[in-house]
Amino acid sequence: MLSIKEIQNKKKNGEKVSVITAYDFAFAKMAEAAHIDQILVGDSLANVMLGYSSTREIGMNEMIIFTRGVSKGAPNTHIISDMPYLSDSNPTLALENAKLLLDAGAHSVKLEGAKEDVIEILLKNNIPVMGHLGLLPQTAKSFKQFGKTSEEADQLLKDAMTIDKLGVYSMVLEHVPETLGTLISHRVSAVTIGIGAGESTDGQVLVLHDVLGLNGGKIPPFAKKFANIFEIGVQGISDYIQSIAKK
Ligand code: KIV
Repeated sequence: MLSIKEIQNKKKNGEKVSVITAYDFAFAKMAEAAHIDQILVGDSLANVMLGYSSTREIGMNEMIIFTRGVSKGAPNTHIISDMPYLSDSNPTLALENAKLLLDAGAHSVKLEGAKEDVIEILLKNNIPVMGHLGLLPQTAKSFKQFGKTSEEADQLLKDAMTIDKLGVYSMVLEHVPETLGTLISHRVSAVTIGIGAGESTDGQVLVLHDVLGLNGGKIPPFAKKFANIFEIGVQGISDYIQSIAKK
């Protein structure tokens, strides 16, 4: 398993960090077999695993169950768990919840926004933190790119510098202009992990269901499908049904 230091060294050596989401035992096993650097148990599980329309609809119970499954499937991979909506609404609560995620098998936690007092208390308690800036699905009013106006761009850069200074080891930059993804990656010492932030971030993350074409529907414009497991699955189940009909 890559340590935080080894992940940071990848940035220093100009090597890219690969991250993919996974939510359960089987797919975590698949990601580990493919030698992914880090697995994110993202709160996107609300959408892709449970069919909800918002990540706000899940809480700590779901994150703990799915983190446990991933840690069993990928015992040798660094696992990041998302702090779900409101689980980090104050420092004391965040610390309590982050500890529960570590107990379930996570090695670090990710949280949305520049919540300085929360990040501080987690780091003080030796819990490694990945930040998440740009489009923040837990609180966003729209899923538009973030950082197009000069106010948004200034805010994003300021937040990135702030959480970097606090000591996050890594930060996701979601759906931001490529120029900002590049600028922030040069300015901060944390490892920047882009999703829709251009090619120059220190690593990339994608949602497993988009990469593998698991849900059959549309994927976000910045995602990329590398396989079509939905079609393969439909075919396999149809073949099974046919085999029953023949008997
Ligand atoms: O929950 C998630 O899948 C995420 C990624 C989009 C970074 O936070």
